[in-house]
Amino acid sequence: MSPDSLERLSSTIRDVPDFPQPGILFKDITPVLADAHLLQEAIEGMAEIFAGQKVDKVVGIDARGFIFGAMIAQRLGAGFVPVRKKGKLPWKTRGVDYSLEYGTNSVEMHLDALAPGERVVLADDLLATGGTAGAALELIRQSGAELLGSVFFIELAFLCGRERLEGMGPIHSLLKF
Ligand code: PRP
Ligand code: MG
Repeated sequence: MSPDSLERLSSTIRDVPDFPQPGILFKDITPVLADAHLLQEAIEGMAEIFAGQKVDKVVGIDARGFIFGAMIAQRLGAGFVPVRKKGKLPWKTRGVDYSLEYGTNSVEMHLDALAPGERVVLADDLLATGGTAGAALELIRQSGAELLGSVFFIELAFLCGRERLEGMGPIHSLLKF
């Protein structure tokens, strides 16, 4: 992806101070999603990392990861698998808890969503502390699928999420802040 495209993507993300809590600078991706050309560039940029590899499934994380994951899956000719927040999936699930700054959260995946040996990519909009992605990667590990890597639209590098995901496969991000 050209430096010019990356710059246009980066400058279209809207910084919203004090959302959802005072002191947090929220990276709002909706202006990128709303722009047909930039949306296509973002998805192509994230998908091309795995170009030439056989990908069976893209796993996307509830909720914003569904947007990126499903489009990347279509681009790669792969299926899509949702990792959802606890209690949202109707069939038999496996779950993983992960810690937040205050308290814990859980994500789940259907037991039959991934078969052992399937070649899988994880996608989400944002890598922050890495807690969410770490839990999703643990679900993939438990399924016995083969992880090709993870791809994020944005990485907040100062939160060191990459370190939390050490040993959990290759980590790719389109934009770093
Ligand atoms: C956000 C974001 C990532 C996650 C990153 O999801 O979409 O999934 O936080 O944070 P972490 O690396 O510190 O775990 P969130 O659940 O807040 O909202 P969403 O349902 O809109 O995706
Ligand atoms: Mg999310």
